[in-house]
Amino acid sequence: MKYIVVAGARPNFMKIAPIMEAFRLRAQKQVLLVHTGQHYDDKMSDDFFADLQIPKPDLNLGVGSGSHAQQTARVMTAFEEVCNEHRPNWVIVVGDVNSALACALAAKKLGIRVAHVEAGLRSKDMSMPEEINRLCTDAISDLLFTTDKMADENLRREGVNEERIRFVGNTMIDTLLRNIDKALSIPLPTEFEAREYAVLTLHRPSNVDSKSKLTALFEVLIDISRLIPIVFPAHPRTRHNLQQFGLEDTLQDSQVNLIAPLSYLPFIGLTARSRLVLTDSGGIQEETTVLGIPCITMRPNTERPITCTMGTNILVGSDPERIRTAVFAALNASPPKNMLPEKWDGNAAMRIVDVLLAEPAALGEPTQGNTLPPKWNADAAAQVVDGVLNEHSVSSG
Ligand code: UD1
Repeated sequence: MKYIVVAGARPNFMKIAPIMEAFRLRAQKQVLLVHTGQHYDDKMSDDFFADLQIPKPDLNLGVGSGSHAQQTARVMTAFEEVCNEHRPNWVIVVGDVNSALACALAAKKLGIRVAHVEAGLRSKDMSMPEEINRLCTDAISDLLFTTDKMADENLRREGVNEERIRFVGNTMIDTLLRNIDKALSIPLPTEFEAREYAVLTLHRPSNVDSKSKLTALFEVLIDISRLIPIVFPAHPRTRHNLQQFGLEDTLQDSQVNLIAPLSYLPFIGLTARSRLVLTDSGGIQEETTVLGIPCITMRPNTERPITCTMGTNILVGSDPERIRTAVFAALNASPPKNMLPEKWDGNAAMRIVDVLLAEPAALGEPTQGNTLPPKWNADAAAQVVDGVLNEHSVSSG
């Protein structure tokens, strides 16, 4: 059997590292690692490969940045060629970035089976590009590897056949557990004492692409930094917007310490010794659950609700008062207990690889056809037009 593992953007790298290692431990040689090149800066990509000792990718598609359609299309075009040349039995994609959806689509249309790692997460927020990627990737993947049982439930509610769902745990947490000691051995920047600073990450387009929203967020963050200094490794998109909106100077006189993006080990080392984290990331909500660090998530919703039920994570949206209140509460409370949700035990990647190795080499059954769904009758077009007209009269009224 031949496998292609896909990685494209920063949050993918910690998820594929243990999968590559599990294939190696199972002496599986026919594994190609394809980097789409969605993220390409050293600090967003190469440094993670070095920190996590991920083998050098066999192929780099070098797609780079662009609009969603451009980026997705470039990955699909390049990855289709890779699939045609190498004819894998399985393509393994992780997470919810554009590269994952693009490679899943290209492979599936060539009749290649697709496994999606971190399937079934749902924010129910269709304004997030990642939610669209999650829904579409899950819809076409043959195997759906989930991190928790809430994800299984989401998939069942969408009518996914039980046989496609495999609850295996969290490969990002495999990486965290494997690397935490190394991360903690990295000294903190000299100006910071353990537990006496906060970590900030912010990069969602919904938070950083509008001048008024970013300005309002930084007003409250600068205020908070008077109570507790903030270390802010800035994503390139955010840094660019801070410059463009003329906000970088206002940070210079504050205790919001803007630094370059950190690679994996320094970032985890910094986070694990912080007093609290302010973020709009997905993965950091899970890492702080395992590390027992209060996480204040500047989003109205999360696709990772287990982090809230575990008690480490709170959703505050972008409302300054809610952010401020959550920070006060975290500073005045004793730190939460670190929690390990079921199967977040360091063995998720091995479970995934064992499932894949047990799959038969032949392609799956073709999908069934020739059934007539309800309402496939001659009145369909009239009903569509009526629906659109009604929609219009409601929204304009
Ligand atoms: C992508 C993912 C997001 C993930 C984030 C983590 C999608 C839809 N989004 O968002 O889910 O949380 O990665 O970082 O796939 N840039 C650089 N250097 C790089 C990469 C990007 O300067 O190495 C800049 C470019 O200006 C680029 C912008 O960042 O246009 C955005 O990059 P992109 O990959 O399109 O989306 P992210 O915001 O990083």
